[in-house]
Amino acid sequence: MKKRGRLRAMKKRQRIVILAVIAWVAFGVVAGLAIVSLTAEESDVVTVAVALPATYSQEAQAGEGLFKANCQACHGPNASGTKLGPPLIHDIYNPGHHSDEAFYLAAATGVRAHHWPYGDMPAQPQVTREEVGLIIRFVRELQEANGIVRKAY
Ligand code: HEC
Repeated sequence: MKKRGRLRAMKKRQRIVILAVIAWVAFGVVAGLAIVSLTAEESDVVTVAVALPATYSQEAQAGEGLFKANCQACHGPNASGTKLGPPLIHDIYNPGHHSDEAFYLAAATGVRAHHWPYGDMPAQPQVTREEVGLIIRFVRELQEANGIVRKAY
């Protein structure tokens, strides 16, 4: 009798250990999946390291100030990207893929989200077409300094 009692007690302990191991593994799997899905979401947001040109043209210098005032909050310092908007110093914005007209249009009418997960870009009607032209010079000179040049699409 005594022996049986001990046996049962041992089995019970074994069961508890097995259940604990299962719970531990299940927790690990769930935590692992959560981490994977979090990093997947974060990796959709792109920021880039931007090399600065040695000198800017006069237009680009004027454009820099306008960019800071009107675009930088979303597109980041030197158009390097933030959590709110993509980097414009990125190959998809090379002049062959996004011509200057795409910039004029973006500022005048906004942009429907299509390349990225950030959402729509609101129009920036406070910026005149002439000012956008200066911003474009600033962005193009930064692009060139980072090896982003016209490619045919
Ligand atoms: C409130 C945030 C915000 C501001 C301010 C903003 N943008 Fe954007 N912009 C975005 C987002 C988000 C996208 C990406 C949309 C997509 O393609 O998914 C975008 C996309 C663009 C594009 C790509 C257009 C295309 O055809 O794909 C250009 C060019 C651009 N922005 C220029 C500018 C300029 C120039 C300014 C300042 C005058 C500016 N943006 C201000 C958020 C912003």
